[in-house]
Amino acid sequence: MATAIIGTGGIGSAIARRLASGGETLRLSSADTESARTLAAGIGRGAVVAVDNGEALRGADAVILALRFSVLKGVVAEIASSLTGKVVVVPSNPVGIDEHGDISRLLPEGLSSGEVVSRWLPAGARLALAFGTLSADLLESSSNRSPQPAVLFYATDDDCAGEEVERLIRTAAFEPMKVGGIEQSGRLEVGGDLHDLVVGPAEAASLIGGA
Ligand SMILES: NC(=O)c1ccc[n+]([C@@H]2O[C@H](COP(=O)([O-])OP(=O)(O)OC[C@H]3O[C@@H](n4cnc5c(N)ncnc54)[C@H](OP(=O)(O)O)[C@@H]3O)[C@@H](O)[C@H]2O)c1
Repeated sequence: MATAIIGTGGIGSAIARRLASGGETLRLSSADTESARTLAAGIGRGAVVAVDNGEALRGADAVILALRFSVLKGVVAEIASSLTGKVVVVPSNPVGIDEHGDISRLLPEGLSSGEVVSRWLPAGARLALAFGTLSADLLESSSNRSPQPAVLFYATDDDCAGEEVERLIRTAAFEPMKVGGIEQSGRLEVGGDLHDLVVGPAEAASLIGGA
């Protein structure tokens, strides 16, 4: 199985390293290919660099769009013709960062990244929101936790996407847990009650039920 990762910055790199250490074959692309090349060199044989975003999708079952929210719509439009039937995993939070490092929300309160991205995708694309609940550092440090694995929450309306994202989360050495459909994805984002939490399965299940 191969997974494409478009965007090899902070979170894309962390996801790639986690998946590669679980044995996943990766196809990487980034804006200027330099960061994708550096990442691939660090990973070794399990990762190849694609010449562009469209090429990254070739032969991949799933694509992870590890992109800032502000560029997501443009990249979705660029690769739309290749997304039908593909699992599309989005970790993006709907926030922007200005030159002073100040973070601001880019969507109205109550409207989630998942709900907006689902409108941008072509028919037949299988959307899941996942891998965006933890910072890149926390994602790397809380994988392979024992005796209880740490949970990564996800949201999807699509059963095939759910199966594939669960496989990817396990490959990354976490326990997957579905929070609900895309309408629940705001809980995973910055400001959501399930964001930035490192918890085991029992606590995760009670948090989901407690909302
Ligand atoms: N960083 C975290 O800890 C973290 C944690 C959870 C969720 N998130 C979310 O994940 C998203 C990405 O955050 P980040 O911190 O990883 O951002 P980042 O470090 O700025 O990385 C963004 C990546 O996107 C690539 N890119 C930009 N335009 C592109 C295009 N047109 N085609 C292909 N690649 C393109 C950049 O390529 P170049 O490398 O060539 O510039 C870069 O690799 C954000 O929405 C954020 O909210 C981040």
